[in-house]
Amino acid sequence: MSVECFVTGGTGFVGQHLLARLTATGHKTWVLMRSPENIGRLRQQVERLGGNPTYVHPVEGDISREELGLSEADKQRVSSAAVAFHLAAQFTWGLSMEHARAVNVQGALRVARLAANQRIRLLMVGGYMLQNLTHLASIGVDHERPENTNWPAVYDRVGGYEGSKLESHFSVMRYMQEAGADYTIVHPATVCGHSESGHILEGQPLAELIRNLAQGRFKAVPGSPEHWLPVVSVDYLVAMITCVAFDPLMANQQVLALYERTPNLQEMLGRLANMLGVKAPRRHVAIGLLRWLLSIPGLAARFAISAESLNFIQTQRFDMRHSKQLEQRYQLTHPDMARTLENTVRYVKGYFIN
Ligand SMILES: NC(=O)c1ccc[n+]([C@@H]2O[C@H](COP(=O)([O-])OP(=O)(O)OC[C@H]3O[C@@H](n4cnc5c(N)ncnc54)[C@H](OP(=O)(O)O)[C@@H]3O)[C@@H](O)[C@H]2O)c1
Repeated sequence: MSVECFVTGGTGFVGQHLLARLTATGHKTWVLMRSPENIGRLRQQVERLGGNPTYVHPVEGDISREELGLSEADKQRVSSAAVAFHLAAQFTWGLSMEHARAVNVQGALRVARLAANQRIRLLMVGGYMLQNLTHLASIGVDHERPENTNWPAVYDRVGGYEGSKLESHFSVMRYMQEAGADYTIVHPATVCGHSESGHILEGQPLAELIRNLAQGRFKAVPGSPEHWLPVVSVDYLVAMITCVAFDPLMANQQVLALYERTPNLQEMLGRLANMLGVKAPRRHVAIGLLRWLLSIPGLAARFAISAESLNFIQTQRFDMRHSKQLEQRYQLTHPDMARTLENTVRYVKGYFIN
């Protein structure tokens, strides 16, 4: 059965792959675009990724504007959507709290409002740190009573991007529950390239990590041998997103999209370095010390690493039982992740490293 879908963030990395998958399976998509004049380029990209470009239609808008900045005619168009996929976010380090909140928190609430008013499902993409309850407690998020959280203090600790992703998650859930509306949330680990083509966009955290390693900027492994950076392939992620989005049993549910056998960070850096033909860092440096070093003016830029990115390197392992049940229900498996990383490295080397 094909339905119409509304998608925010369709021009981004995960969004492009989501559009390819939705349109390849016959779904017409309305894509919220800040620059709809780029629709030709987006359609070409969707086609390259295996989708059907004739099913991709732009609506001009911006999640930081009231009612998403949609014209009356476009509101009418998106009113035929059966699912609203919310992926748009300012995904960058160094955001001010005001800016991050205006886009990532208020923007998510605007998309939630649209979905609730139309009585359609909201499929929102969160992040795996939202399932790391130890981490949430350590940074002052009261996940059982989020309204008791001192959000400015959380933003101070983890930065604008992560602070706003956490706040938007709890704000949207509360809003949807109060509105009696239907939502499903997928929490991805750090996303790596497509398992076959290795396709990834420049600026993605994993692409930057590979580039930094290639350029010899990794002098030591952040954290201990227990630290890891869980990853997931973009194709597994969008497969999980589309399966849960249309599953009535997933109303008001959340799921992690994460490859639990991701090796520890030392081993992952070793494998990536091997593929790049560079020396792998061996010594460890404590995260706290590294964070302090990065606060020294100029050092963060020299190492091309932001203290905010260190929040995602953790020792916590996750309860994957729900994800596994869903994998069985949808007959979904992770691709060969060693090969996926290899293809991602090849892609980054070919396109982003000169
Ligand atoms: N990639 C990861 O490793 C990862 C991991 C966990 C969670 N996530 C989450 O997954 C989602 C997608 O991530 P991604 O990696 O695909 O991000 P991305 O490549 O940075 O794409 C971000 C998208 O958001 C759009 N956007 C930004 N500000 C907007 C605004 N004010 N109004 C409308 N659209 C706006 C961008 O549109 P323009 O083309 O106009 O800039 C772009 O389409 C995000 O919610 C992110 O937090 C990603």
